Amino acid sequence: MNYITYKENNLTCEDIPLKELAEEYGTPLYVYSKNQITENYRSLRGAMGETNHLVCYALKANANHSILKILAADGAGADVVSAGELYLALNAGFTQDKIVFAGVGKREDEIEYALKQDIFCFNVESIAELHTISRVALRMGKKARIALRINPDIDAQSHPYITTGLQSSKFGIEASKAFEVFQYAVSLSSLELVGIHTHIGSQITKVEPFITTANYVVGLIEKLRSAGINLTHIDFGGGFGVQYTNAIVHEALPKEETPDNSIPTPEDFLKAVLPILQSSGCSLWIEPGRSIVANAGVLVTQVISIKENSVKKFVIVDSGMNDLLRPSLYQAYHQIVPVSIDTYEHEKVDIVGPICESTDFFARDRMLAKTNTGEYLAVLTTGAYGFVLSSNYNGRPRPAEILVNGDRVRVIRPRQTMEELG
Ligand code: LLP
Repeated sequence: MNYITYKENNLTCEDIPLKELAEEYGTPLYVYSKNQITENYRSLRGAMGETNHLVCYALKANANHSILKILAADGAGADVVSAGELYLALNAGFTQDKIVFAGVGKREDEIEYALKQDIFCFNVESIAELHTISRVALRMGKKARIALRINPDIDAQSHPYITTGLQSSKFGIEASKAFEVFQYAVSLSSLELVGIHTHIGSQITKVEPFITTANYVVGLIEKLRSAGINLTHIDFGGGFGVQYTNAIVHEALPKEETPDNSIPTPEDFLKAVLPILQSSGCSLWIEPGRSIVANAGVLVTQVISIKENSVKKFVIVDSGMNDLLRPSLYQAYHQIVPVSIDTYEHEKVDIVGPICESTDFFARDRMLAKTNTGEYLAVLTTGAYGFVLSSNYNGRPRPAEILVNGDRVRVIRPRQTMEELG
């Protein structure tokens, strides 16, 4: 079910019209639906079926404390990539035995902190890191649980900037060395080898790369078993793609090009890989971020002015690449719709922000419902990798964040003030 929809001609988040929120709290404003987050998480959990499993939410997608609390209270685990994220996870109530720690550059102090907290395991990305974790564990008189992140050299067929499973990528241990690194890891007395980790990329929209990865993982586990190395845990990463075009359909809105209308749901992805992975007999953890929070959030922005030259029409809004970086960084597509529909007329425009950079755009040559200065627009599907990637560039305070639950509204991060800029 979609919790961000038009009721009559007003875009609402659950029971609350976004216009009311924009007028009360100002713009730019991130608004999230609590029930959408819960539903997304629970349907992933449900799709894992009877397997001994855990859905670890990847904090990097959206690390707002209130959102983390919702997922922690619902039993989710956490995938963290820094001491900071580990702190945020623990602080929000994720229990340490459900936390995994990934990332290619873990510092010794971060490893020490994670060992003190007794997290479930480190997803180790190289031999050098095996040595570091082993050294820190020895020094602390502890045994560190680890899984090896293997880079299977499989093309996730996503944007190159968010593809992580190719040999040319910095992530993981290369497949051709995997067997010997596993053999080496079991020989280190301060480590307890529990499993294997893969994460081949993000916004993956086809099942095939996942199927190839699952077959690779199970094959490697069997090979290791024949050599006396018994793994009990698979962490299959995240990466399930979500639909960015036609996130909302309304007869007054321009028909969007629909390249991603046929994206499998996270449940479809899981249905394709579960039988393969289950055959290993291992427990199965996944680390989705985007598929839990992306469609639960919108960025509401106000039109500051409209400017036309002989080749283009620009709709200039009060939010920019400092608030939402994805279009500038990955040429990412986000549907943009009026918060209140009052016309069926459309026009081709660039929707741009106030930042002094030509990359400061949300959309180029986009058919948009005709809009005017002062009106509010919603940039859809911005619950993941939205606020977390925001910055103070150009002296702009970070936006406020609001959580809606039915007819209840809560400010979950107040708008940053100018004084807080420094
Ligand atoms: N696990 C690991 C080890 C990861 O590196 C990531 C994402 C995830 C899980 C979660 O992946 P998800 O389910 O969200 O696809 N900023 C980019 C996305 C970067 C993803 C980085 N790693 C964007 O806005 O598209």
